[in-house]
Amino acid sequence: MAPRKIIIDTDPGQDDAVAILLALASPEDLDILGITAVAGNVPLDLTAKNARIVCELASKTDVPVYAGCDRPLGRDLVTAEHVHGKTGLDGPNLPDPEMPLQDQHAVDFIIETIRSHDTGTITLCPLGPLTNVATAFQRAPDIIPKVQQIVLMGGAYFEVGNITPAAEFNIYVDPEAADIVFKSGIDIVVMPLDVTHKALVTKPRNDAFRNLGTPVGIAVAEMTDFFERFDKEKYGSAGAPLHDPCVTAYLIRPDLFTGRHINVEVETTSDLTMGMTVADWWGVTDRPANALFIGDLDADGFFDMLTERLARL
Ligand code: RIB
Ligand code: CA
Repeated sequence: MAPRKIIIDTDPGQDDAVAILLALASPEDLDILGITAVAGNVPLDLTAKNARIVCELASKTDVPVYAGCDRPLGRDLVTAEHVHGKTGLDGPNLPDPEMPLQDQHAVDFIIETIRSHDTGTITLCPLGPLTNVATAFQRAPDIIPKVQQIVLMGGAYFEVGNITPAAEFNIYVDPEAADIVFKSGIDIVVMPLDVTHKALVTKPRNDAFRNLGTPVGIAVAEMTDFFERFDKEKYGSAGAPLHDPCVTAYLIRPDLFTGRHINVEVETTSDLTMGMTVADWWGVTDRPANALFIGDLDADGFFDMLTERLARL
């Protein structure tokens, strides 16, 4: 089967970096048409820089990287240096990128790419706030029915919030953008904290990354050594949750994941619960199902596949 054509929209972020590395290591499964950076974990200039750092770490500098929106649709940017560090990629000491940033704006790239391909052939993989994707849909509504699928990391139900008591970071940063995406009618697969908090980089798993002995394996281990602090302190987790790699892993091995096709809506008015994903997991409303909401994964299978793929780089 031909590799799936995808656009990765991202705010690197150590976990975004691992998701991108997994995709770059999987050309038989994924054809990365472009990587679009968005403001999120750190400001746009850093996410656009970090996306290129990751491509160079993988020696895959032929993948075009675009800069997109530098702030949410209708509110100030909230960042997460407390989780990802000042650079957004704290941990390993990686060189500044030499590969260029594309001149075209990421939103225009998304629009033009979807318009120039057959309907149902492009999958969007948002790993950060949904600002770029929602802006593309606002500017070019004609592309919405052409999108094959959206597989995104964001939201939470049983796990509730990681940035506020009610909201997960990606949705919280731009709830209006998330509302546009969840109401788009597109086939959406959601990787919420409910599943990503089960993808924990325990010490044996991180040792397996480090023991690859490659620049990629060592860098991933060093990213995780830094990135795990926040979740270990807050949740007492056994390791860093690999949130975003659940997206690219799903595209490669969907059999590793289980969930329910349910209604998911986004809080965009109450300050108390702003950005909360209200997931009708128990089917108590008659609101139409609009998303496959993933609740569980085969964690050992996930890490075995991830480690095997990273070893290729
Ligand atoms: O809440 C986790 C999400 O927020 C991940 O995508 C992480 O990279 C941050 O963007
Ligand atoms: Ca992210």
